[in-house]
Amino acid sequence: MSRPIILGIVGDSAAGKTTLTRGIAQVLGPENVTLICTDDYHRYDRKQRAEIGITALHPDCNHLDIMQQHLSLLRTGQAILKPVYSHKTGTFEPPKYIKPNKFVIIEGLLGYSTRAARDAYDVKVYLAPPESLRAKWKVKRDTEKRGYTEEQVLAELEKREPDSEAFIRPQRQWSDIVVSFYPPSENEDENNGHLNVRLVLRPTIPHPDFTQIIHPDNDDSESAVRLGLGRDMGKPVDVLEVDGHATLDQVNKIEHIMCNDMPYLKNICDREINPELGKIAGTTGETLQSYPLALTQLIITYHMLKATQIHQ
Ligand code: G6P
Repeated sequence: MSRPIILGIVGDSAAGKTTLTRGIAQVLGPENVTLICTDDYHRYDRKQRAEIGITALHPDCNHLDIMQQHLSLLRTGQAILKPVYSHKTGTFEPPKYIKPNKFVIIEGLLGYSTRAARDAYDVKVYLAPPESLRAKWKVKRDTEKRGYTEEQVLAELEKREPDSEAFIRPQRQWSDIVVSFYPPSENEDENNGHLNVRLVLRPTIPHPDFTQIIHPDNDDSESAVRLGLGRDMGKPVDVLEVDGHATLDQVNKIEHIMCNDMPYLKNICDREINPELGKIAGTTGETLQSYPLALTQLIITYHMLKATQIHQ
């Protein structure tokens, strides 16, 4: 019997988790995907948190043991009775019965904080935009969708900083892929949504052979698609960078490398993505409409499908 394939998307508040999660679900086919947000495992509601003086980022503020149990159940294809936290009211709602589909995407703040939880994932992604961009995204989301003022959001960011540093950022080390969307240059803003992406690819999962995009005779440093060796948290990694202004041709090369290795991905690309690869990104949110986002979604999808082959 096949079991669900589990993807983790972890990162700080407003790092782009939901946008990426929805995009990947779109590529995999929403009917094949179960989405779980670990905010539902908060131990205290908004009022209690304020009274106690604890932030949602602190492990003690979350039922990580229950989250862990649920992850193990989902991995073996079993249903869970998931708590529900409402961002609207800041309170808990009745729990929901959730049966896992073929793919399960778990997004949240503390998904990799315990060993047992980490063991449940097939693919682990960590989102790390520059802090200035994250602050901007957080102000935008929390003022538009969660009823806070800009001052409140900035004050909250400052209050949470020690917990971000202590509990959120260290989880980067456990990820297979670190995703950082960033503006092309310091003074250029988001440039009409054309963010670049930097993907740290750790050798903890088998990546497609992207070395084919390197031309031995050329200096690739000026290219809009770059592959290099680097270090991340002290460990050797590959780094793939795709600029927002990359051409469809350049992006297609990367797409082909993955599709050659994974024929089923080709079906998805033909159906969802080609001939305009960027189109798929358009379904997920305005600020990230770009080839970098579309390619990031595709690379993660590649790994989900690869995990299906390995484990079934
Ligand atoms: C941040 C996180 C959320 C978390 C929330 C709790 O905004 O991104 O995931 O649930 O903090 O705070 P709240 O605004 O709901 O009291």
